Amino acid sequence: DTAAAIPQAFPIPAGVFAETVTQVQHYTDSLFRFRITRDPSFRFRSGEFVMIGLPNAEKPVFRAYSIASPSWDEGVEFYSIKVPDGPLTQHLQKLKVGDTVLMRRKPTGTLVNDALLPGKRLWMFATGTGIAPFASVIRDPETYKKFDDLILCHTCRTAGELTYGRELVASLKADPLVGELAQRLTLYDTLTREPWPREGRQTDLMTSGKMFRDLGLPPIHPDIDRGMICGSMAMLNDTKVALESFGLVEGANNRPASFVVEKAFVG
Ligand code: A2P
Repeated sequence: DTAAAIPQAFPIPAGVFAETVTQVQHYTDSLFRFRITRDPSFRFRSGEFVMIGLPNAEKPVFRAYSIASPSWDEGVEFYSIKVPDGPLTQHLQKLKVGDTVLMRRKPTGTLVNDALLPGKRLWMFATGTGIAPFASVIRDPETYKKFDDLILCHTCRTAGELTYGRELVASLKADPLVGELAQRLTLYDTLTREPWPREGRQTDLMTSGKMFRDLGLPPIHPDIDRGMICGSMAMLNDTKVALESFGLVEGANNRPASFVVEKAFVG
């Protein structure tokens, strides 16, 4: 790898955590995951996001990143795209173990259990890196306490983009500690630009009813189903319309209802 190192000569701004990169894994030319150390005082709810940046400028660029790790984890994990000219990701993609990442202290977000009324099934709808907050939610025992069944829907363009979610779910099901809970988790992943056992946008598969037939489940019903949505703006809108057509109602932290949308996400 000939990528130039990230200049880190600038002082750490006040009021942010300066954490150390402990792991970096690249999945495709445009997707990677990294882990950083976690300050013992940093608390968050699974599904929330935080602002992160790099100490590579006097005034570092900060972007909202969903936390992909569960709240009980000793580190903090992120799943990211790489954009060649992205203000932050052009540098972030060059991260190496030992580098410093800045993280603002206050997490926030709507994809949290508290924003949903109790229900039997939790549907998580994601496209692309929108799966990141759900990587946290599906590893939180609280989620399994609140819901009987979890369905994680993930749509991407090509197969390599599904790897992160597939590996995560497989390792969760094989885990000696949480594996038994994770038997109640189903991954429904679809592709739109390559052959795959499940083809098409999840929104279309849901509207046509094929998703429910594939899963052997009854269609979404407001009495039993709850939803969380994370993806591009167009995807959020289309999924919201689909869920509302089944009678679900959008909620928020201070007004729990039957589905929630993460608007801060930048795919
Ligand atoms: P498609 O290939 O049909 O555009 P993107 O990288 O553009 O955010 O897309 C990621 C995945 O999300 C792709 O598989 C894409 O399908 C799908 N997608 C894009 N827009 C929507 C939408 N409005 N509703 C559902 N899925 C979408």
